[in-house]
Amino acid sequence: MLVLGIETTCDETAAAVVERQADGQARILSNVVRSQTDEHARFGGVVPEIAARAHVDLLDGIVDSAMKEAGIGYQQLSAVAAAAGPGLIGGVIVGLTTAKAIAMVHDTPLIAVNHLEAHALTPRLTCALAFPYCLFLASGGHTQIVAVVGVGEYVRLGTTVDDAMGEAFDKVAKMLSLPYPGGPEVERAAAGGDPTRFAFPRPMLGRPDANFSLSGLKTAVRNEASRLEPLEPQDISDLCASFQAAVLEATADRLTVGLRLFEERFGTPRALVAAGGVAANHAIRSALQDVAAKAQTTLIIPPPALCTDNGAMIAWAGAERMALGLTDTMEAPPRARWLLDANAKAPAGHANSRAGY
Ligand code: KG4
Ligand code: ZN
Repeated sequence: MLVLGIETTCDETAAAVVERQADGQARILSNVVRSQTDEHARFGGVVPEIAARAHVDLLDGIVDSAMKEAGIGYQQLSAVAAAAGPGLIGGVIVGLTTAKAIAMVHDTPLIAVNHLEAHALTPRLTCALAFPYCLFLASGGHTQIVAVVGVGEYVRLGTTVDDAMGEAFDKVAKMLSLPYPGGPEVERAAAGGDPTRFAFPRPMLGRPDANFSLSGLKTAVRNEASRLEPLEPQDISDLCASFQAAVLEATADRLTVGLRLFEERFGTPRALVAAGGVAANHAIRSALQDVAAKAQTTLIIPPPALCTDNGAMIAWAGAERMALGLTDTMEAPPRARWLLDANAKAPAGHANSRAGY
């Protein structure tokens, strides 16, 4: 089975061709990603309108490259999959419409993939992981703990009630005048800082649910930063280190609870899987390693290029759905919001538009 996957929900324009063999083994034939970081950097964050226009300009060329690199023709495709949400609606429309056009012209099945489902199924693309497993997804738009029980069977165990984790890193970077995207910059600055200099709050610590909250922590950093003005480089490093220490402790606590909730409902997870840009953070990785070890499970973090937004994960999720006969019609709608867990409700106090709960 050969599936073309298209990803345009945020600021990556991406397309890939993935092969799924009858035994469920996967092979990535091409995976072309064009990040728009430069287009958005001077605004300190993703600008939806700029992203949508860039997707329009770039997508045809990216799809063409993905097909050429894979060395196949459109007639050989078993399906075309696109991320139909959740995400910035302009970009979602561009990707889904392109997929529909390809499906129509080449008389190929269409699969409208939930972007979060694609992140959730990525470890089955990279290492054929069996169900059930626990996913920790932390990116600029999402912070969720999800029980991945089967294809199409996801139970959200925890989510952020305000900012996404990557968003909090980006906002802290911005208030300290560090460049965008802020996560890697904060991590770098934190490496030379004192994590104990500022006692920032550890949000949600000890709560019986597995939800996250990051906006109070971010405000605490802002208050401390304005108190210290003008900031010396050491102040910036100490603020970053103390912020990151608070995120680490909150993450470890929330995931420990999440894994306990998982165990109660689904038994021991086959693995704890981390995905999303924040999973690139070395301090977070080692905190996750400890959490997994304590819960007697293995930590799996797909390679960075498959952890962050890409077309291969969309193609793979499409292939997994296709293998179960789950295809979509031309009426499949683009969606700004699309819960992975149909039974999950927005957490109380949710106020943020990018957190994509
Ligand atoms: O998954 P991703 O590439 O894209 C989406 O958000 O969809 O995640 C990007 C996010 C950004 O907020 C970025 O600041 C954060 O991941 N990030 C990090 C690190 N690298 C990227 N956050 C903390 N530490 C890092 N090393
Ligand atoms: Zn994503």
